[in-house]
Amino acid sequence: MQLKNKKAIVTGGAGGIGRATALAFAAEGASVAVVDLQAEAGEKVAAEIRAAGGEAVAITADVSNEADVKRVIDTVVAEFGSVNVVFNNAGIIKRKTATEIEVDEWDLVFGVNVRSIFLMCKHVVPVMTAAGGGAIVNTGSGWGLKGGGRALSYCASKGAVVNMTRALAIDHGPAGIRVNSVNPGDVNTGMLREEARQLAQSTDSFLAESADRPLQRMGEPEEVAAAVVWLASDAASYVTGSALVVDGGGIA
Ligand SMILES: NC(=O)c1ccc[n+]([C@@H]2O[C@H](COP(=O)([O-])OP(=O)(O)OC[C@H]3O[C@@H](n4cnc5c(N)ncnc54)[C@H](O)[C@@H]3O)[C@@H](O)[C@H]2O)c1
Repeated sequence: MQLKNKKAIVTGGAGGIGRATALAFAAEGASVAVVDLQAEAGEKVAAEIRAAGGEAVAITADVSNEADVKRVIDTVVAEFGSVNVVFNNAGIIKRKTATEIEVDEWDLVFGVNVRSIFLMCKHVVPVMTAAGGGAIVNTGSGWGLKGGGRALSYCASKGAVVNMTRALAIDHGPAGIRVNSVNPGDVNTGMLREEARQLAQSTDSFLAESADRPLQRMGEPEEVAAAVVWLASDAASYVTGSALVVDGGGIA
């Protein structure tokens, strides 16, 4: 029970890495708010946690919208009493170059991947500070640490996630708040299938290419979730401002 009595928010919790982490947080004893744009799928994850004996609420919200983010935090404080852990994980990708991507698509990617983390931290840091500290984990990407093809806005946004994580760690460390990024590479979620679709590539060939890394396979969401549980837990009590890579050696 690495997160016993912790109150946690997981964004993008309806699917993929977020869902696996919401379930892992709950299995480690945390109360979990599953936050996502997808209402039905988010409620399903919360119901799954409750059916296993845990405590969970689903909150439908757009994490790039400030009023929604404030409502999420207010709801969690009303339901659970406080917030100790936040996993800022909601994210989207556009597989386009500078000449292909439209300005509104660029803004959308930055809204969901970057602005969301700023908004969450802006409003949750005071709550965490009042609670005596906490842990924030932001989902970056291997493509926040190196470049990738036909994904300009995504690479730029994930680079921002990695470095804003460091800046947040510096600003809020004195309040006892640790901030780290987890940086996955090719994990078996809907996002990989969406990339194949955007690139007009067959899903099979795209997934086969994802296995081209030292461990010879793509990752599973539960393998990222295990790293997030550790970063969020007291076992990582001296870890802040770090960028943990979970990618089967893909960018080694
Ligand atoms: N799958 C990979 O290979 C991979 C690799 C590196 C990084 N990541 C990152 O991991 C995170 C999770 O992605 P995933 O692979 O689980 O994909 P996913 O598409 O399965 O999950 C993303 C979730 O975010 C939600 N979401 C999207 N926009 C939102 C918004 N505005 N407000 C609230 N929720 C919103 C979606 O509804 C979805 O449930 C993302 O930040 C992604 O960039 C994924």
